[in-house]
Amino acid sequence: MSKKEYTVGFEIIGTGRAVPPKRITNDELAKTLDTNDEWIRSHTGIGARHIADEHTACSDLAVEAARNALSWAIECHACAEKTLEELALTVDMVIVCSSTADYFCCPATACIVQNAIGAKNAGAMDVVDACSSFIYGLETGAGLLSVNKDRRRALVIGAEVLSRFVDWTDRGTCVLFGDGAGAVLLEKTDSSKGLLRTILGADGSGAEHLVMKRGGSRNPFKQGDTVETPPHIEMNGRAVYNFAVSAVTETITSLLKAENLTIEDIALIVPHQANARIVQAAAKRLNIPEEKFFLNIEEYANTSAASIPIALDEINRSGALHSGDLIICVGFGAGLSYGGNLIRW
Ligand code: ACO
Repeated sequence: MSKKEYTVGFEIIGTGRAVPPKRITNDELAKTLDTNDEWIRSHTGIGARHIADEHTACSDLAVEAARNALSWAIECHACAEKTLEELALTVDMVIVCSSTADYFCCPATACIVQNAIGAKNAGAMDVVDACSSFIYGLETGAGLLSVNKDRRRALVIGAEVLSRFVDWTDRGTCVLFGDGAGAVLLEKTDSSKGLLRTILGADGSGAEHLVMKRGGSRNPFKQGDTVETPPHIEMNGRAVYNFAVSAVTETITSLLKAENLTIEDIALIVPHQANARIVQAAAKRLNIPEEKFFLNIEEYANTSAASIPIALDEINRSGALHSGDLIICVGFGAGLSYGGNLIRW
């Protein structure tokens, strides 16, 4: 479908984020792990990560980010609703994108968030697709608004507490991840702003490259199991790296082609913050200046589904974008899954 055929827009009218205050630098990690700041920075671009305290679960970060997104919509967008409570009642869908839900299997974390923010008229669901979840969640939100004329607003939240699911003795993975949440409030409007097109893809043949093996129906916990090695992410870093560079490159190329755009039409690319070297390699392959890519991985590390909405909130609050600017968000991760959203700001 070409741009001109869209009759409704799915505009982002609020953004918010929540990041735990506890910040661990590379040097601090190196006190208990055989690693160092130079290796982590040169291989990943990461300088620090924020880690949730033991009382904070995924929904706690999601709720804070959601409230911040609602507040932005009230303060900076011409919403008729003037309080958080009033605006929350107008939300039709709460979607939490996460691989680190509050509870194993059920309930959906989105239900906990829906109750906490007082979105009493909203449906609630989780989207689980690792680091690509927010890209999928934005398209899910827009899709759910588009198929029902009575739905107008969807809160799409990326939230993760990955620190609970890494092996803190494995220097190959634990240095990469951090905790956090980001949220956007999506509104169905008749403007040309908002989500214009999404590309989604997957290659399940790479499922074993990034996986949490224990605890699911394939490998359930058994009586007598110990918690000496709690469930944690296992990764074939090199395979994921190669996949990620291709996924970023191909997604950006396909989005531009589908909308008959060139890279000069795009104000900013917001990639999933997994590794600065992935972005550098993709930029080189696409012949795009690295400055076109937004990077905040140095401060937050890889927050999986939260990384793109955290970045969107930072960008929004910095005033770096102008109304009407085109941006591309591009995500990739376990699955292997990938995707991109083209958005008019
Ligand atoms: N500190 C010091 N040395 C280290 C560390 C560390 N933290 N980690 C690994 N090393 C060592 C290794 O032991 C190895 O040593 P050796 O040569 O003596 O055996 C050496 O560094 C090289 O290790 P590699 O694993 O080959 O390093 P590589 O250059 O491939 O970088 C990395 C590893 C950063 C993980 C890279 O492969 C990568 O970024 N992959 C992509 C990861 C990713 O994007 N994940 C995102 C998805 S996450 C999700 O979806 C939940």
